Amino acid sequence: MTQIDFDLTIGDIKIPNPLVLASIAGLTNSSFAITRSAGLAILGGYNLDEATIKAAKELVKKGRSEFAYDDPMPVIKNELGVMNATEIIAGVNARSSTLEPLLEIAELTHQEGAILELNAHCRQPEMEAIGAGQFLARDLTKLGEWIQEIKQTDVPLSVKIRAGVVGDVELAKAIDRAGADAIHIDTMDSGPTLIKKIRNATTLKIIANNSIVDYSSAHKMFSMGADYVSVARAAMAGDIALQEILAEVQSYQETVGWYNAPKHICAGGDLRGLTYCCTPVKDCPLHYVLKRAGITKEEYVRIKESFKGTKLGAGPDTCFGSMVWCCKITRPCPWRDSSLQDLGFSDVEYMQLKKQLAEAFLSCRNLE
Ligand SMILES: Cc1cc2nc3c(=O)[nH]c(=O)nc-3n(C[C@H](O)[C@H](O)[C@H](O)COP(=O)(O)O)c2cc1C
Repeated sequence: MTQIDFDLTIGDIKIPNPLVLASIAGLTNSSFAITRSAGLAILGGYNLDEATIKAAKELVKKGRSEFAYDDPMPVIKNELGVMNATEIIAGVNARSSTLEPLLEIAELTHQEGAILELNAHCRQPEMEAIGAGQFLARDLTKLGEWIQEIKQTDVPLSVKIRAGVVGDVELAKAIDRAGADAIHIDTMDSGPTLIKKIRNATTLKIIANNSIVDYSSAHKMFSMGADYVSVARAAMAGDIALQEILAEVQSYQETVGWYNAPKHICAGGDLRGLTYCCTPVKDCPLHYVLKRAGITKEEYVRIKESFKGTKLGAGPDTCFGSMVWCCKITRPCPWRDSSLQDLGFSDVEYMQLKKQLAEAFLSCRNLE
């Protein structure tokens, strides 16, 4: 099969596709990861310091599987070496109650071309009690300082969190401000709506997690702003779920040109959906969405018109005389489609320009 370019990166690392294998303690090592159809496999979670290793050993006594190595660094280095011989990019999910081992693992993952994932997600009382895992989400000052320190190493950094622990959007904004590259969010019961809020409020790459079991559940996350979806439990039984999602997402990228194209604003889409909105003449959700994003009506029109120099500027027979005001390719419209045909402008090219227009809106929103 020809390689499809999803144009995906975390930090300076190119990720081949938007599927992520999420960490499962005691299971997600390199031998498991290389049998799964993910672009990024997050190994671990690994316990890095004395306190987390001790806590993990307590959890093992209670019957939970854990990676509880007395000396985890050589093990992780070896695992990254194995992953480096494959096309799957590796990530390392790390738990620690102290910063020093995180800096050490950051240096290692950076050298090995892997991503570091700071675990602010584990909710086992043994981990929280020593200031690791989910505890970090409750201490934004410490979390922010740790992110800043880790980023001094230049490692591409994701932070894994769980929804519903503290204010999710405030937490995501703090992670963004501190300089992380990505947020890996276990949405729990909040689902795709939370992904939309985080997409609108931050510049982070978003890995959406929880109950992704097939393409339908993945697509809901993509269309609300997820850059990636991650799978844990559905990957335990085998590779079928990941294979299905990958095949469908590749097909969508090939035929539509924008695998995580947003919904229209009037259908509840995230801010990127402004790319499909028409002129601000109707009484519709466009107005309050612009207001919330801190974009004036004049600025909105100016950004749309700045794309009139591209092929989107054509389409004299469309509703508002130019395709900058036209909707998503999957929404039927004979006027837009005949303009595309007259110009020899493909659906994929059309949507790729709509994507650039969406990015222009994101870069001028007010993030405060
Ligand atoms: C047995 C088990 C162990 C897990 N261990 C970790 C871990 O070490 N680190 C982590 O960040 N998440 C861990 N998770 C959470 C998963 O990565 C994922 O966030 C969660 O299972 C929800 O995704 P899913 O619906 O695809 O399973 C674990 C989940 C399970 C079921």
